[in-house]
Amino acid sequence: MCGIMGYAGKKPAAGIIIDGLKRQEYRGYDSAGIALRCDSEIVNVKVVGRVSELARKVSELPPESAGAITGIGHTRWATHGGVTETNAHPHESADGMTVLVHNGIIENSRELRSNLESKGIKFVTETDTEAACQLLALLYKDYGGDALRAMSALTAELRGAFALVIMFLDRPNEIWCARKGSPLVAAFDGGACYCASDPTALLRYTHDLFFLEEEEMVSLTPSGCKFFGFEGQKRIKKAIHLNWDSVMADKGQYEHFMRKEIGEQPDVMRLTIEAHTIVANVAMRKSLNIPRGLMDSIRRIQFVACGTSSYATLVAKNIMESLDNGIDVSAEIASEYRYRNVPGGGDTLAVFVSQSGETADTLAAARLAKTLGTHCVAITNVRGSTIDREVEHTVLSLAGPEIGVAATKTFMGQIGLLTLLVMFLLKEKGSLSAGDEARLIGGLRSLPTLQQSLLEREGEIKSLAEKYAGSKGFFFIGRRECVPLTMEGALKLKEIAYLPSEAYAAGEMKHGPIAMLDEHLTVVALVPDTDLREKTLSNVEECRARNAPTILIASEGDEGALAHADDILFVPRTEPELFPFIGLIPLQLFAYHVARTLGRDIDMPRNLAKSVTVE
Ligand code: AGP
Repeated sequence: MCGIMGYAGKKPAAGIIIDGLKRQEYRGYDSAGIALRCDSEIVNVKVVGRVSELARKVSELPPESAGAITGIGHTRWATHGGVTETNAHPHESADGMTVLVHNGIIENSRELRSNLESKGIKFVTETDTEAACQLLALLYKDYGGDALRAMSALTAELRGAFALVIMFLDRPNEIWCARKGSPLVAAFDGGACYCASDPTALLRYTHDLFFLEEEEMVSLTPSGCKFFGFEGQKRIKKAIHLNWDSVMADKGQYEHFMRKEIGEQPDVMRLTIEAHTIVANVAMRKSLNIPRGLMDSIRRIQFVACGTSSYATLVAKNIMESLDNGIDVSAEIASEYRYRNVPGGGDTLAVFVSQSGETADTLAAARLAKTLGTHCVAITNVRGSTIDREVEHTVLSLAGPEIGVAATKTFMGQIGLLTLLVMFLLKEKGSLSAGDEARLIGGLRSLPTLQQSLLEREGEIKSLAEKYAGSKGFFFIGRRECVPLTMEGALKLKEIAYLPSEAYAAGEMKHGPIAMLDEHLTVVALVPDTDLREKTLSNVEECRARNAPTILIASEGDEGALAHADDILFVPRTEPELFPFIGLIPLQLFAYHVARTLGRDIDMPRNLAKSVTVE
């Protein structure tokens, strides 16, 4: 969703802000803008379209504007009001005193707007944000130019979610920020202060970051950050050191971040296994901080997440069930969980999974579970993210920054960590047999090499993608451990190739969807050589009888599968529960190459945002 970048320092602000916006482009946006504090005025430049166009417009500014040392920038993902230059941020108050950018949704903006209009204030945009901007200007005047009091009063009036970043015309080298519900991170590098929606925008300046808490404000000047609660009380805050390399957030030699990130997956697996290999090891126990004996009282485990992360939880659920069917385990979609009458309490353990740690529905679900007295654990890829700070026990996935909007390596990091977490919990419960433990650890250890061998066969997958890119649509089918993969394979194609693609448990096809099949719809079937191979192959035959071209992903050496496919990709054998770690890579590469063949904007697909911070 929207991206924010602010700078208050001694260097020209424009380039720093544009760079910060570029690094957050992957969040998804449709327009962009920047406001620069010049000698006696604030210059505001906006565009519909890309940050590169904004940069071009900024480069045409006169030297006095280009030299401005304070400024704020924004990429907008439209919610209220069409995609127009006027609706793009920054917004200015009618008196020109406040200039503001916003990420989130102000739910009472209509009320505020009509109230302000009744006082004679003229609105120029259709956005919810402008109400906050106009109101702040009024409050600033009422409080005689006391920014802290005006900000407190503003935050008390606003309902909804917001990260606000503001400049006041008469405060030349200062920026104010407020956060409730939408992420915001601030930093001080010794000579300048920065703020952004996403930490990756700040890593080239410092790795010591201040993640704003709920209902927290900060003022930024070249001499440092000052933090306050919404009531105006001062706060002392410690920076969190983020151990990410800024090079990790660069594309390097690759055409797309997504392709680079797919290729990083063997390393993600290696790191995850190294960090948590021994099932009852110190690292997992330390991160989880779960008291010994807790698992004796746990009757129910809920895995909760959205999108791709929710498919990772399905992988975890399947593995848990395959190892111990004596525990009530479910995988829940956070946007549903939060509104259902879900069971919870001291006999329930809920695991919330979010790569960004900022997904609004997952956060709301975690807050609900806490109120029920449920034991909560978070799995996230971003240290310092909201979920990391709000949920008492967090285990960090080790994927490093992911820039492509379509999740790839973070999914791999999640399923690696979740598998080890499941094994840890079952071992605590005393229900993981030594045989299963050794078998799975051995299997996990061999994965990075097997995954690497698959990546080296990209050419085969590319040819298949080019051959089938003209299909009217796709069905992904499979059984049990393959079902989460069918969902992920179909989602990747929807996200980056914009092609209709459905995921079905193979046995479900004949209960309806098979009616759609003809020679224009391609079926991708996941058929590893397990006890369910024959069953799935029968379902494949049912599809082929309806003339649907069929691609099979089958186990190496399964020559018998050849007779059931128009095209086949053999993948390395592994333990049945671990097939998702292998089957995933061809599906990601297939979606990537279909999208590339169709000339799609792979890293920034239309209409999508990397962090979904509104519900
Ligand atoms: C995956 O490709 C998507 N970008 C999306 O489904 C994503 O997984 C979902 O929005 C959840 O995000 P999170 O893991 O950051 O919570």
